[in-house]
Amino acid sequence: MMRLLTIETTCDETAAAIVTDELQVLGAVVASQSELHERFHGVVPEIAARAHVERILPVIDEALRQAHLRLADIDVIAVANTPGLAGSLLVGVVAAKTLSLALGKPLVAVNHLHAHIYACRIAAGRDVFPCVGLIVSGGHTSLYHCRDACDFELLGGTIDDAAGEAFDKVANMLGLGFPGGPAVARAAEQGDPRAYRFPRSFLHDQDRLAFSFSGLKTAVRYAIAGPGKPDCERLELNERQVADLAASFQQAVVDCLVAKSLQALERTGLARLCVGGGVAANRVLRAALADALAGRGVELLIAPPELCTDNAVMGALAFERLRAGHIDSLDLDALPGLVRPRP
Ligand code: KG4
Ligand code: ZN
Repeated sequence: MMRLLTIETTCDETAAAIVTDELQVLGAVVASQSELHERFHGVVPEIAARAHVERILPVIDEALRQAHLRLADIDVIAVANTPGLAGSLLVGVVAAKTLSLALGKPLVAVNHLHAHIYACRIAAGRDVFPCVGLIVSGGHTSLYHCRDACDFELLGGTIDDAAGEAFDKVANMLGLGFPGGPAVARAAEQGDPRAYRFPRSFLHDQDRLAFSFSGLKTAVRYAIAGPGKPDCERLELNERQVADLAASFQQAVVDCLVAKSLQALERTGLARLCVGGGVAANRVLRAALADALAGRGVELLIAPPELCTDNAVMGALAFERLRAGHIDSLDLDALPGLVRPRP
């Protein structure tokens, strides 16, 4: 049996996990930094990097403690080295390289987005490839043709904001907390998703597997206060308005994600959809996807919420790369690289 220590520091969660090559999770720790970024209504890269530095060793220690193991018992070190915030990524990459060198164990880098889809494989307990992969996170909203765990072809993605980013910004406009996704989802429970008519970009455009959420964001802003009016944050909204705005916004995002996933399935002819990333924790999205795919002969796999938001367990993707003969050297780089597909 092989034991993997995997490290995740791409954005604002410091995470480590110990996973076996049979994908059994022996230890898993996620230290969220939400409370550090909350008052800025978004992730501040410099603060994130500093917090990773402080937390990375205690987080690894705690994962080992949960697994009742010592560093010497670890056979492989994995780290997500792309994409993400440069300073954040560096902390994980340097920690992983140092451990690899000190322990004399192989180092394997994983792509954070691919790992988000691999979370579905871990949760399913069986092979899930080939599939269409929908990644909906704070930084990305993309559809992939996933041939196997290591071979992803980008089909399309957002031309501006990511879905999670839109949730975070709208939460801010509505005076809700950070991270915005769970806060908007909670407020939306009491709201009417048809109260406001918000735009759904590219919805019926079969030729473009693209998303755009910046116009939706602006539409929410104008529904609160028109152009030239004071900042939304300073306007008093009653609970009903907040709930209706949240529900209508959320429904617009969900409608786009569902429609484009269906188009990607049609285009590729694949019969399986795997969904990953923080926004995949959204209950309305999960239910809408299940609804849309019911009776279509398409299998839907969404990881449980704790494997949707950033975590290190999904870095077990490293075993697949290792099996494919892939080992990284100590000159491994952190690659922030945000790739924006053309519509
Ligand atoms: O995958 P993730 O943890 O980090 C990135 O790789 O970006 O995704 C974080 C994003 C945030 O924008 C957060 O607001 C959103 O996921 N999110 C949600 C929910 N839980 C987290 N969005 C909608 N509904 C949720 N329940
Ligand atoms: Zn993520």
